[in-house]
Parts: sequence; structure tokens; C-alpha cells
Amino acid sequence: MPEARVRGRVFSGMQPSGEAHLGNYLGALRQWVDLQHDHECFFCIVDEHAITGEFTPEELPGRIFDLAVSFLAVGLDPERSTIFVQSDVPEHTTLAWLFNAVTPLGDLERMTQYKDKSSRLESVPAGLLNYPILQTADILLYRASLVPVGEDQVQHLELSREIARRWNGRFGDFFPEPQPILSKAGRILGLDGNAKMSKSLGNTVGILADPEEVHARVRTAVTDPQRVRKSDPGRPEVCNVYTLHRHFTGPTLLPDIADQCRAATRGCVDCKHILSDHIVEHFAEARERAAELQARPSQVQEVLEAGAERARAEARATMEEVRHRMGMAWRECVPSRSGRA
Ligand code: AMP
Ligand code: TRP
Repeated sequence: MPEARVRGRVFSGMQPSGEAHLGNYLGALRQWVDLQHDHECFFCIVDEHAITGEFTPEELPGRIFDLAVSFLAVGLDPERSTIFVQSDVPEHTTLAWLFNAVTPLGDLERMTQYKDKSSRLESVPAGLLNYPILQTADILLYRASLVPVGEDQVQHLELSREIARRWNGRFGDFFPEPQPILSKAGRILGLDGNAKMSKSLGNTVGILADPEEVHARVRTAVTDPQRVRKSDPGRPEVCNVYTLHRHFTGPTLLPDIADQCRAATRGCVDCKHILSDHIVEHFAEARERAAELQARPSQVQEVLEAGAERARAEARATMEEVRHRMGMAWRECVPSRSGRA
């Protein structure tokens, strides 16, 4: 392995909610693509996490496939990265079960994501509570130390470090304490300009959406609420459309966009149109690649099969050591019977 690629393994995961959206891209995917050039990377479609939320067996396979297409379309390279589906590697859930033994219930109950999601449910599935244990197993199964994620995952990673520390304290130093790599984009708000961009809130723009759809979606975006009429001056610093401009509209045009908003010389409709043009352009190549992959689904399947095989080999090696250290390798202490054969 080249020297540049030994600075710590990278692992990250994404739930298969179908095609990735701008929040996934700016918060995570964009960094994944960069990291694969100088790190050994594992990128996982976490279907076993997805079943803690809403899903149907009919639509889950399509959501997995669409996310795999998004991964490949934005430039994840199966030659450089191991790209796979979580449930293809059974060791994820095995290790998660073992981590149950060293995770205090109170630590799980105080997770913001758990409190938030469970407060909206009448009946809370146990999987929602145990979710961060599975996430820890995902990472530590590959002994990864670097985890590129959006801000919302920082608390889960703190817990992952705690689990690694407790396990190491009891069974000997083996797992690294994984650190997040945060994107500069922070939390991307949805088109409502209020909540996190998230498929479940219906406030997303898909990265592979066709141009008409991007325009139609962006047209609905909420702008500065104080700018009621076109002649009212706007405040780019509070406008989510401007925040998105920062990511997709080049530095030469950006100051003009802000000035024209403040001076009310350009209306929001126009401003949104410029934004959607740039989004469409930014993902033009990805859309083309996606169309090619959709026409040849077996190619996507091959990538995921090969990825799972590579991942399984790593996972098996980790689990052998874990079982040994946790006292489950009982065959090691049974005297050999070869003499009686
Ligand atoms: P999920 O779709 O919830 O599995 O998220 C996958 C990755 O995208 C995680 O690293 C998240 O932190 C990141 N992510 C999802 N939504 C957003 C958002 N609105 N802003 C920034 N990052 C996000
Ligand atoms: N919980 C993450 C999210 O919702 C997805 C995830 C599962 C993950 N396992 C992971 C992210 C391991 C990083 C590492 O965004």
C-alpha cells in the first residue's frame, strides 16, 4: 500500500433513502470523494439502520440501488474504495450485539437523535435506541479511525469513542477511538429554510434530479421572510437560498448576488433561477454517469458484490480477534483429540 494511504482508515455510512440530496452531498459525500485519494476507505449503505425508520420490503431494494448509483455518479471509485451494503456483512450486527455488553443504557437514552425521533413515535422500536451501537460496530469492525460525517453525527461518534474505550479497557487495547471529519458546510437546511434538509421532511433537492425538477423544487425555496415584495431589501446572511449559492455559484458571481439582494435590484425568483442553473450544471456529469449506470444495473451489482467480499474478509479477521479476547474462542482451550482418532 502506498505510504500516503496509511494515515488511518476511513469509514462512513449513509442510510438508503434513495437518491442522495444536497445535504448528503455537501455534508458528507463530497468529502468521501476527496478522501479516497489518500486514505483507505470503506463506504457503506446502511440498510440495517434504515429499518429502524419507515420502510417497506418492496421499496428498500430500490432505495439501496439508487443510493449506490448516487455514490458512483458523484465519483466514489470502486478501485479506490470499498463500497458495500451493510446487511451483506453479517459481522456488523454480531459486533453490535457484543458492544451491547459495554454500553450503558443511559448513554443511549441521552442521544439527541434518539430523543428527537422517539418523541414523535407512539411505539419506539428498540432498534432506534440501539442505533448508535450498530453505528459503532460499523466503524470499529474495520478498525477505522476517521469518519467523515455531517454535524448531526458528532454525538454518535462521541459515544463510539466511549464504547471503544470501555471495550479496550476490559478486553485489551484493540480498537481505535474514531474521530469525525466534519465538512465545512455544516448543517444544510431544507427548502423550507428552517429544518435540516432530510428526505423524511420532503424538503430536499436530489443531486440527480433532472433540470426541470431542480428548477421546480428550488422555486419553492423559502427566502428572507422580511423580503415580502421585490422592492424590499433582502438579507443574504439569513437567506437559505444564498447559503446554497455559496456552495454552487462561483466566487466571481457571488458578491453580485449578495449586493443585488441587499439593494433589491434582483428579485428572489430570479435569484433562485440562477441558483438552480448552477446546481444543474454542478451535477451534469453525475447525471450522465447515473444514466449510464441505470441502463446497466448489473455493473452496480458487481461493485456491491466485490465490495461486500472485501469487507467480509476484513470483518472476519476483526471478529476472530474480538471473539478470542472476549473468551468465545473456546476451541482454543479444549485439548486436541487427534491422538484418539
Ligand atoms: P443520512 O441520510 O441521515 O444517513 O445521512 C448521511 C450523511 O449525510 C451523514 O454524514 C449526515 O451527517 C449527512 N447529512 C444528512 N443530511 C444533512 C444535512 N441536511 N446537512 C448536512 N449533512 C447532512
Ligand atoms: N447514522 C448515520 C446517519 O444517519 C449513518 C451511519 C450508520 C454512519 N453507520 C455509520 C455514519 C458509520 C458514519 C459511520 O447519517
